Amino acid sequence: MNRLATMALLCGALCGTAVAAHAAGDAVRGERLHVDCLGCHGTELYVPPRAKVKTLAALKQETERWNDRMNPKFTKQEIEDLVAYLNRDFYKFRN
Ligand code: HEC
Repeated sequence: MNRLATMALLCGALCGTAVAAHAAGDAVRGERLHVDCLGCHGTELYVPPRAKVKTLAALKQETERWNDRMNPKFTKQEIEDLVAYLNRDFYKFRN
């Protein structure tokens, strides 16, 4: 194998992992963070017949919107974690 191919493989493995780890939320962490969201509503809002959010993108948007009310605010990574938790336990969107 030539050197270029080795480097491409290495980067595929290392960079790919880094990107995936960054983009994906951690539902376990999100569940812990979500305790802070329970001041106004419980999780009944996330399931029928109350749930209005219909897509993963909308769920993320909604979470960011409510984050504006939080003090201190959640970081981008924490938003991803919250969305991962809400999707794992309630919404179950596939994309
Ligand atoms: C200041 C009070 C308040 C706080 C704090 C709050 N929410 Fe909400 N949230 C609401 C209200 C009010 C609604 C809209 C209820 C409705 O439309 O019936 C809502 C709706 C939502 C929805 C949409 C549910 C659906 O499918 O219709 C999501 C998701 C949500 N909140 C997540 C969160 C998360 C995550 C946090 C913590 C970052 C949070 N909320 C903090 C008051 C709050």
